[in-house]
Amino acid sequence: MLLNVTRDCSLKSYNSFAIDSMAKTFIMIDSSSNLFKVLDELNGEPFLVLGGGSNLLLDKPSVDHPVLLINNKGIQLVEQTDDSAIVCAQAGENWHEFVCWTIDQGYGGLENLSLIPGNVGAAPVQNIGAYGVELKNTLLQVEVMNVSSGEVKALQNVDCAFGYRDSIFKQDQRGQWIILAAYFRLTRKHHQLQLDYGPIRQQLQQSGINDPTIRDVSNAVIAIRKERLPDPVDLPNAGSFFKNPVVMRDQYESLKSRFPDMPGFQQEAEAVKIPAAWMIEYCDWKGMRKGYVGVHEHHALVLVNYGNATGEAIIEMATEIQNSVWQTFGIALEFEVNLATETMFVRS
Ligand code: EPU
Repeated sequence: MLLNVTRDCSLKSYNSFAIDSMAKTFIMIDSSSNLFKVLDELNGEPFLVLGGGSNLLLDKPSVDHPVLLINNKGIQLVEQTDDSAIVCAQAGENWHEFVCWTIDQGYGGLENLSLIPGNVGAAPVQNIGAYGVELKNTLLQVEVMNVSSGEVKALQNVDCAFGYRDSIFKQDQRGQWIILAAYFRLTRKHHQLQLDYGPIRQQLQQSGINDPTIRDVSNAVIAIRKERLPDPVDLPNAGSFFKNPVVMRDQYESLKSRFPDMPGFQQEAEAVKIPAAWMIEYCDWKGMRKGYVGVHEHHALVLVNYGNATGEAIIEMATEIQNSVWQTFGIALEFEVNLATETMFVRS
């Protein structure tokens, strides 16, 4: 008999898009030993792993395979020196609450990542990032369980092959590891504040702050996010729905000659990142609404659920947006959100 099991459980409150998909079997996991037992009992059946559900699209009305909610809790200081601290958060901790804890302790490094929805366990999967900082800048290692063998081990930062919204957990090792905890090396002194991205300095200046602390930066990020991005509690969404495409400089230059206002951010080598939001807005999707699905009125990269949107309806609008952008710019937008049906785990 499995532990903590609910039959026919609505997943509406477990995904930030608030899609009312039904899980035939919903299993709450609160420890690694519990997870080990459950994996054993699943006996080769595919399953879906759920964290905070903030980057997930439940694309079918029901999930017929078991859904495992990773809900192990705990935050601890592992070690500290005068200059730095190593901290560990269990996968089921809420990301923003963890960031607030680090700021309360005076530990710097995560302040630009304030108010990102979701849980700690999902953060390394897509190498969360905002306002010039990515998780990979401070992540030391992740503790993972191998889905097939049940082995628990540490993967170092370099082993995770982090990229822009990317890691091994989304690529070749997809579905093989469940993240149990994440370790970060943070600063106690000489914080390396990242203030150059977008409107952070402007926000600090408006508040009359010239020599910001990590808390000031966190507060500025929170204010910016609240102004631009809808809170999933008020208007369900999964943050950026698409990734920002990265193209070669000559393709960007040729687009720029046709669309002189097109922004572009230089990446390493000859690559340029183009804001997908700009292209979506150019194609007149910003603020568009069809039934319960819409493109947010303040940010064109965010699709929202105005009530009872289904996963299928959201994909339909997302596909129309992809088609518009393709026809106008010749650029294929990729989903940033993960589709439930494409993120199944299986024990081999
Ligand atoms: N823009 C528009 N129209 C809009 C919104 C933005 O044209 O409606 C253009 C503007 O030129 C703006 C540019 O897009 O300067 C960039 O906008 P923004 O700073 O909001 O960032 P983004 O590229 O749209 C990325 C992340 C966000 C993260 C912000 C801030 C991705 C896919 N998204 O968005 O992450 O908060 O930068 O760092 O990389 C998320 O992953 O869910 C997420 C919200």
